[in-house]
Amino acid sequence: MDFDLTEEQILLRDTARDFATREIEPKAAELDRSARWPAEIVARLADLGFLGMAVPAELGGAGLDTVSYVLAMEEVSRACASSGVIMSVNNSLFCDPLVKFGTDQQRRDVLAPAASGKELGAFGLTEPASGSDARTMKTVADRQGDGGFVLNGSKNFITCGPEADHVLVFAVTTPDAARPKHTALIVRRGTPGYSVAPHDEKLGIRAAHSCTIFFDNVRVPAEGVLGGEGDGFSIAMATLDGGRIGIAAQAIGIARAAHEKAVAYARDRKAFGGSVADLQAIQFMIADMATELDAARLLTLRAASMKDRGVRHTAESAIAKLYASEMATRVTHKAIQIHGGYGYTTEYGVERHYRDARITEIYEGTSEIQRLVIAGSVLSA
Ligand code: CAA
Repeated sequence: MDFDLTEEQILLRDTARDFATREIEPKAAELDRSARWPAEIVARLADLGFLGMAVPAELGGAGLDTVSYVLAMEEVSRACASSGVIMSVNNSLFCDPLVKFGTDQQRRDVLAPAASGKELGAFGLTEPASGSDARTMKTVADRQGDGGFVLNGSKNFITCGPEADHVLVFAVTTPDAARPKHTALIVRRGTPGYSVAPHDEKLGIRAAHSCTIFFDNVRVPAEGVLGGEGDGFSIAMATLDGGRIGIAAQAIGIARAAHEKAVAYARDRKAFGGSVADLQAIQFMIADMATELDAARLLTLRAASMKDRGVRHTAESAIAKLYASEMATRVTHKAIQIHGGYGYTTEYGVERHYRDARITEIYEGTSEIQRLVIAGSVLSA
């Protein structure tokens, strides 16, 4: 088994690290405080090709692989978790399904501008009354004679919703109490009947705006149907198989930021006649944090490399996301503990990492849903 990164992947990681440290990290605390959309960072992510990293170059992307995407996601999220999730939604939840299921026309008109970062995409699965049990969504789309649909309903917690140019909306197209069928529809912002609520006030990732989007008799032409009619749920699930790898990388970036701060603080802070890093109680915490970070990174790189090889990675991406997100909560919790009272204030920024980590256990499937997916795979083997 080869654990080494290629020269290109190392170069990409170092470029991402340098960029994120110089241009994103200094702004992260202010973005968190003000919950301001980081338009200038999104523009720079686009310049660097980070908004369509694994999209083939001939389709408007950077033509890299999922391993490179994971490496860049960790660096960007280490600097600013809000910027990380904006990057991940456009890459994993919007561009990726268009690469896999899009027609030539959809790839040209919708994917290419999103992959180059000229436009942004969002993913509309969750609704006010259906989150984990995604199949019970209420949004409906009625087929028209011309092959298009008329869409009615609403989607909430849509990351990048206020800013997105397109949303990939999943809607019931064949109602059935036991097994409804769903279709994936590409809906353009500004289509009559499409409206957006003010963005949510959140505990963490405060600069990555999310909102509710309403669809009131929104007409989606036949060219807006992604994949086959009735294939929407499988498209959503397959997309989340990739998305969960990105969120695992985001969690690793958040945890790494907290770990680095805890190590620096422990070296610097004096107590009991030396630095607190001399105390075994602190050393054990630092060692556990480093071990868990490493384990999460290996699990995430494994899932990414399986995706690159075209191997089914449903369970492996759920394992990576489950472990990395719960690890991030534990690591950021310990980072606050090592900082003592200073960790509880905003002065050192570790409380931000703690708040940011929490969402990674919730979005793109809660930890409980990851466990269901993993158990399903283990028990059916
Ligand atoms: N790939 C392809 N198809 C898949 C699949 C996969 N990984 N997993 C399931 N499917 C298909 C099945 O084959 C099945 O197809 P048929 O109907 O043709 O037989 C269909 O999908 C239904 O599968 P299940 O019976 O397993 O579905 P279920 O209703 O039991 O639900 C679930 C499974 C895992 C609980 C699913 O509902 C789920 O993942 N829930 C969590 C939803 C989620 O992650 N939401 C996150 C929202 S996005 C977000 O958070 C974005 C953001 O802001 C950053």
